[in-house]
Amino acid sequence: MAQRYTRLSLVILVILSLVYVISACEKDNQSLDTPNVSDLPQNEESNVAEARNMQKVKIGFAMDTLEEERWLKDRDLFKKALESMGAEVDIMEANGDVALQISQAETLISRGVDLLVIVPYNAEAAAAIVEKAHSAGIKLVSYDRLVKNAEIDLYISFDNERVGEMQAEAITKLVPKGKYVYIGGAMTDNNAHLLKKGVFNVLQPFIDRGDITVVYDQWTKDWDPENAFVNMEAALEANDNQIDAVISANDATAGGVIEALEALGLEGKIPVAGQDAELAAAQRIVEGTQTMTVYKPISTLTKKAAELTVSLAKGESVDADRKINNGKIEVPSVLLTPIPVDKSNIDETIIADGFHSREDVY
Ligand code: BGC
Repeated sequence: MAQRYTRLSLVILVILSLVYVISACEKDNQSLDTPNVSDLPQNEESNVAEARNMQKVKIGFAMDTLEEERWLKDRDLFKKALESMGAEVDIMEANGDVALQISQAETLISRGVDLLVIVPYNAEAAAAIVEKAHSAGIKLVSYDRLVKNAEIDLYISFDNERVGEMQAEAITKLVPKGKYVYIGGAMTDNNAHLLKKGVFNVLQPFIDRGDITVVYDQWTKDWDPENAFVNMEAALEANDNQIDAVISANDATAGGVIEALEALGLEGKIPVAGQDAELAAAQRIVEGTQTMTVYKPISTLTKKAAELTVSLAKGESVDADRKINNGKIEVPSVLLTPIPVDKSNIDETIIADGFHSREDVY
């Protein structure tokens, strides 16, 4: 009898253990396939975060102009860099028109971009765009040119003051004494002021020693080469053609300067500096009518800009190594390093990089 009870309790024990094992397995399966009721809110939260991350970030790019060769590269390479990161971009170009740039920015905002990148035509007037973007809850990145007196979220460019210094360093090496002409950029562009500051950082000690005299110093309205041509003609006329060197704020204006020199048969006789490494300037350098340019690898700028804007648009924090005062705030800034180029290093810089092909330059 006692033995029968023992066997019965053994059977019950086995059955109970089996029920326990099976239910434990089921529970395990359940936790793999379907969420625990208590886990649900957490899962939903992470799903929403994932969905946000998966959503295509849409960037608006409000450009000033496509006039100079470089801006076509900026447009195409920035688009490519953003798309390779899974972002979309909507691009508009204002053709040097303040009011048009403001209305284009409004259009981009109304089309629902997540972030606005702007190359301001007018550094001060563009502050209105920053306010419009911010009141729509959109961050604004200043690209290549700084927006003044506004709470922009990021500024990315090349070190423009350094560009001016590089120009003046190269020219003072060739012409340490004499009469200089400075053909500036557009007064409405903050870069024009930075470039000029850089040039005079280098020239000032020469001026103070009485070795260099700046006999003509003028801005170029809208960066227009025609205006640079007219200004250079005026500089030559006012000085009986006795000019020893010219520093011009970019290659397009340097082109205007060199045309004015050509009219008098002075091309190649007076050193001229520019910047941008435009194809025409590279050709003039190998021909000997332009002394130097400053090369700014645009693809470095567009890649960095794409990386930072996508992060900002996703609400992530970004690494900006510099702070630049724009009259209102200390703007988190990234400034890339430019490269001076003349006949001696054109092959290992702009040609080696594929910025221009050897056949096109020579
Ligand atoms: C840019 C130059 C350009 C000039 C005219 C400046 O702000 O930095 O690269 O040549 O604008 O468009």
